Amino acid sequence: MPRVGQQELRNAPPILTIAGQPESDEVSYQPAGACREVFTRRASELLLEGPSGTGKTRALLEKLSLCAKRYPGMRGLICRKIRAAITQSCQVEFERAVLVESDQVRWHDGDQEYRYPNGSVIVVAGLDDPQKIKSTQFDLVYVNEATELTLNDWEILTTRNRNGIMPYQQIIADCNPGDPTHWLNLRCRDGQTERYCSKHEDNPRYFDQSTMTWTPVGMAYLATLDALTGARYQHLRLGVWAAAEGQYFSDWDPAKHVCEPFDLPAHWTRWVAVDYGFADPWCVLWAARADDARRTIYLYRELYLTGYRDEQQADLLREKSKGERIARYYGDPSMFNRRTEQNKLSIALVYRQHGVPLLPAVNKRIPGWQAVLRTMASERGPSTTSESPRLQVFSSCKNLIRTIPQMVHDPLDNEDVADKIRGRKTEDHACDALRYLLTMETVPVGRRHQFPMTIAG
Ligand SMILES: Nc1ncnc2c1ncn2[C@@H]1O[C@H](COP(=O)(O)OP(=O)(O)O)[C@@H](O)[C@H]1O
Ligand SMILES: [Mg+2]
Repeated sequence: MPRVGQQELRNAPPILTIAGQPESDEVSYQPAGACREVFTRRASELLLEGPSGTGKTRALLEKLSLCAKRYPGMRGLICRKIRAAITQSCQVEFERAVLVESDQVRWHDGDQEYRYPNGSVIVVAGLDDPQKIKSTQFDLVYVNEATELTLNDWEILTTRNRNGIMPYQQIIADCNPGDPTHWLNLRCRDGQTERYCSKHEDNPRYFDQSTMTWTPVGMAYLATLDALTGARYQHLRLGVWAAAEGQYFSDWDPAKHVCEPFDLPAHWTRWVAVDYGFADPWCVLWAARADDARRTIYLYRELYLTGYRDEQQADLLREKSKGERIARYYGDPSMFNRRTEQNKLSIALVYRQHGVPLLPAVNKRIPGWQAVLRTMASERGPSTTSESPRLQVFSSCKNLIRTIPQMVHDPLDNEDVADKIRGRKTEDHACDALRYLLTMETVPVGRRHQFPMTIAG
């Protein structure tokens, strides 16, 4: 099967037929999960992220070629920071797996582009030569390994994407997560780029959806990723935006700390903590303490929302706790501040009026973070022989799970979590709620005159 290497490109006649042969098991491409979703999405900027090998590159190349066939005369772009890196990565995959003989696609070496019989073209270029990109316009731009780009590179692409042949113009990008402060992560967080998260289970080469088991190739691949350590493990195996250096919760490991939801016994003690927000996320976490020897703490529910007014927050909180016996509701102490200048009740009083008897959490950061670290630590419990941490988070608490690995040490106080990194506020709302929960865990439940037991609902 012909593959186009640099050498071959140089020696090739001006127009070279490169249509590849599909491998026998890949006659028809079947995407799954997030890799499937991106085919129907038309947002002007879309990021398909995930650990290594989930099928991101394949999916976006397939979409590019599909659009080239569907919209005659469209102009596509395959780009990456360094042009030379595309030859051995995307171009090999494009020709090996995506293009088929019957597509009759030709490679034009002089213009560095794939030409379709219907007049569509897909240009290959690197941002190391931005002039090539700046001098033309596109309908669909695919950015491979997008974290390599600077924001400036990305903005160049946004200005070139206006060819007007396709009914929509779009930048589609893929990457493995990197440092949480990366501009691309922030751009997704701010809603300018739509984010889609792919998993290894989305890739049929590695995971068989019909039997729900890993294929032999998949197992071998995962074993390679499992051997990684530190931030590389987090980025490439787990697919999380984790700080490369100075990660605060270095013991955090989803394999140990995340469990599937189950029905909790009604008699376990439950309590709730709130980190207030309106424009920033408002985060509520629910905890239950098991009656096993190690008194395992299960975080069983999360709310993570913006734009909710105080009374709406209280109503929702009560609604979610309906039928559950919640021993205490703790709030961020700032919720108890008087708002006399605005002629408003404190947030805590609004909550109380709406049936949520909020108590102020103790806001001592360092002892609070130590409580979190202790609960997260693996230790041998009196009744267990295997190491298992006291803290167990239901997999449904997605924002907590996502943001724990993003917390880094405060450069001015190593024992504290940084609330800003390079001038940007860190996304610490779920971790703050977790800190309140675990700080207050030790306050004795028996003092009912001070902390009334409440039946919510
Ligand atoms: N839906 C699919 N069906 C068959 N093979 C796939 C599918 N998606 C991906 N693959 C294959 O899995 C391997 C890894 O996919 P790739 O797109 O390179 O992953 P990523 O870009 O996420 O690291 C490639 O060989 C690719 O052809
Ligand atoms: Mg890739």
